[in-house]
Amino acid sequence: MSEVPDWQPAGIDVDTPSAARIYDYALGGAHNFAADRAAAAALYNALPEGDAWMVARANRAFLQRAVRYCCAQGIRQFLDLGSGIPTVGNVHEIAHQWDPACRVVYVDNDPVSVATTRHMLEGVPNAAMVDADIRNPEAVLGAEETRQLLDFSQPAAIVMCAVLHYVSFDDDAPAIVERYKSVLVPGSFLVISHTTDDPRPEVAAAIRKIFEETSTPVTHRNREQVTEFFKGLELVEPGVVWTPQWRPEDQSGPGYDYPERSATYAAVGRVPLP
Ligand SMILES: C[S@@+](CC[C@H](N)C(=O)[O-])C[C@H]1O[C@@H](n2cnc3c(N)ncnc32)[C@H](O)[C@@H]1O
Repeated sequence: MSEVPDWQPAGIDVDTPSAARIYDYALGGAHNFAADRAAAAALYNALPEGDAWMVARANRAFLQRAVRYCCAQGIRQFLDLGSGIPTVGNVHEIAHQWDPACRVVYVDNDPVSVATTRHMLEGVPNAAMVDADIRNPEAVLGAEETRQLLDFSQPAAIVMCAVLHYVSFDDDAPAIVERYKSVLVPGSFLVISHTTDDPRPEVAAAIRKIFEETSTPVTHRNREQVTEFFKGLELVEPGVVWTPQWRPEDQSGPGYDYPERSATYAAVGRVPLP
């Protein structure tokens, strides 16, 4: 009989790959199952030159730069939607390096993400995990942890990195994003990264096919559709760009020399001051 790892929540479907666990594997994490690793291997083979790992690492590096940017702009509270399985450099770690008083609420609906994040946060002040579907903003915003830790009468950052592409056209992602934006006061930020089929439609088609077999099918959006999420906000320079191009801190980050191969748009918008 195979051994059940101590981080594995009871009753989960380990045979259907999930975005959270595939991404965990792509980042070098250990919270994944054979089905996730097989999907990750298929992705690796579908993308040229080992780009699958670069795409994940470039996205994660963008998220970390964006959090540092928001901290530098005075933001001290973060709502991280679709937060994933914790690896290194999670939002609360970056924010707490800046200011331990920063408050962070993570949200995910993958049971492994929820369990491992709760485990990571044991004894950590000013951070909490909400088990919710981001397509239900009322559940997220009304959750006890959100209401206790975040004060939306003050500027905040809502982070939606590599998650909106798991929200289908039928689920009306723009309306969901608008609802989250509606709680933000001037000086707040919206951080988004989103995969696209713009640069390589044939590769994107193969990726969509792989994700159709998972619990989290992928919906690609183009640059215009991603830009639309920032309607009414001021786009922070350099605007909507490939993840490695968003305010790189050095020239050695993942994908820096071939940013379009990330196939992931990244941007940060600010709620305008009156
Ligand atoms: C690729 S990971 C991204 C993790 C992290 N945001 C990052 O960029 O490093 C996507 C995460 O979104 C979560 N997710 C997808 N659809 C979701 C939904 N409807 N509600 C909550 N979480 C969702 C997945 O479970 C997964 O953990």
